[in-house]
Amino acid sequence: MPCHRRHLSPSRPLEPKRCRRKSSHDGALPMKRRQFLSLTTAALAAPTLFVRRANAAEPGAPLPVPEVMDVGPGSGNNLEAIRSTREFVAGVRSDTLGYSQDYLGPLLRFRRGQTANIDVTNRIDAPITAHWHGMHVPGHLDGGPQLAFGPGETWSPELPIDHPAATLFYHSHVHGRTADQVYRGLAGLIVIDDPDIDDPLPRDYGVNDFPLIVQDRSFDGAGRMTYDIGMMDLMQGFHGTEILVNGAIRPKLTVPAGLVRLRLVNGSNARMYNFSFTDGRTFHQVASDGGLPTAPISMTGLRLAAAERAEIVVDFSDRAAVRLVSTRGGSGMMGGGMMGNSGMMGGNGGMMGGGAEGSPLEILSFEIADARNPGPARLPEALPAPVVDLGEPVRRRDFTLNMHAGNMMGSMLNNLIGRDGQIMGINDESYDMGRIDLQVPHGETELWRINADMAMHPFHVHGTSFQVVTQNGRSVDPARIGWTDVVHVQGPTEILLRFDKRATADAPFMYHCHILEHEDAGMMGQFTVL
Ligand code: C2O
Ligand code: CU
Ligand code: CU
Repeated sequence: MPCHRRHLSPSRPLEPKRCRRKSSHDGALPMKRRQFLSLTTAALAAPTLFVRRANAAEPGAPLPVPEVMDVGPGSGNNLEAIRSTREFVAGVRSDTLGYSQDYLGPLLRFRRGQTANIDVTNRIDAPITAHWHGMHVPGHLDGGPQLAFGPGETWSPELPIDHPAATLFYHSHVHGRTADQVYRGLAGLIVIDDPDIDDPLPRDYGVNDFPLIVQDRSFDGAGRMTYDIGMMDLMQGFHGTEILVNGAIRPKLTVPAGLVRLRLVNGSNARMYNFSFTDGRTFHQVASDGGLPTAPISMTGLRLAAAERAEIVVDFSDRAAVRLVSTRGGSGMMGGGMMGNSGMMGGNGGMMGGGAEGSPLEILSFEIADARNPGPARLPEALPAPVVDLGEPVRRRDFTLNMHAGNMMGSMLNNLIGRDGQIMGINDESYDMGRIDLQVPHGETELWRINADMAMHPFHVHGTSFQVVTQNGRSVDPARIGWTDVVHVQGPTEILLRFDKRATADAPFMYHCHILEHEDAGMMGQFTVL
């Protein structure tokens, strides 16, 4: 059945006609099986696919809480990549992309031990993918660049969920377009539940358990979201002038007193955050990228590089109205590139959350409600962390992240003009979809040594979680970091990993810098696991 290129205007209703790649259950368009759980915001109960959250446009508006889509076996779980618009700033529509929403996508919830079927339909005018970032699935289900599918097509992977409880993330991963598509909204959150562990943490979604996708975006003088990258953005990664949480500018979250779990996802293209609370309060990290550590880790500040996740539990028993903030710098070369010339910087303290260089970035403010908190009153001493002993590595590999692969000046100019040049690379080679860079044997523990010749880069590996062994020559306590799939590389960094899922040459796994501008410019490689 041929697939036709179709251009859908955002207001045009979705059509049931669909083309499939891997057809498992053609036929009538099934009903959506989405569940609305414990939702506190009235807007979330809207019955349509395109939820307009009317209040999300102003700073201080309530935090939008993503809808939950329980993805299990069988048909009926649909994600549709669409073009849409959203009023980030009241009265001003910005062009956006989303998975079944005007911006971002629903929270996908999977259960360990199940097989999950999901149909992802492309209703935009460019190829997309759906990459399940952090999930342990074989290469042909991973949603990497080779699995791009075109307008009108549906991709229907069947995902064996074999992953410990964790907060993951999904996003488009088309080579050369990832930064732009993710920026416009093709990303969302994944939660893996493990029915075999007794989660001792707050877990009433929308009540004491909230996802927070933190992103920085820029807006023009009229309030429209913009993504214009120049040479500097390319080199240091894009840094926006506004902070969005779940698609709303610096929103407010109402929580009950007591313990509240926040699932933080750094969904920014490049920015690194150093999160803390305005009163300097202590909080506890209860999960990293790959899931639970062996015990809650107490801290007052949390650093998250692009694509990293962390779950934290915060105690609001004192009912103080605090704010979550971040330092501005920390992104490497240029201290965050906050030199926005947006017309919105003026006026009422500016769109940046009011403040000069050096003052913290405002992320989210909290208000304490009188509602009952159904969760636990105290944190457990230990957590049911997944125990995996990787043993000793049987080989080691070296990776150097380069800012100048190939003929830099020439290709940089091409890049700025045509956006498809390749100026960055790994081990002096820019990413090439047709070249397999490594063949990694299945099931063998390896030590990977990663170096960066300039700046700092969040290095990500598909297909597995890993343990950080050393960072800048200092050894890291694996119990402290836990399992992860992104490591921030500033100096020599060693990670220990093993691949239990396979990837063939037609759908290999990726390793890359998760500064999306660097990734698109070629700081990526690919490998088979056989
Ligand atoms: Cu978040 Cu290669 O991915
Ligand atoms: Cu990934
Ligand atoms: Cu990088």
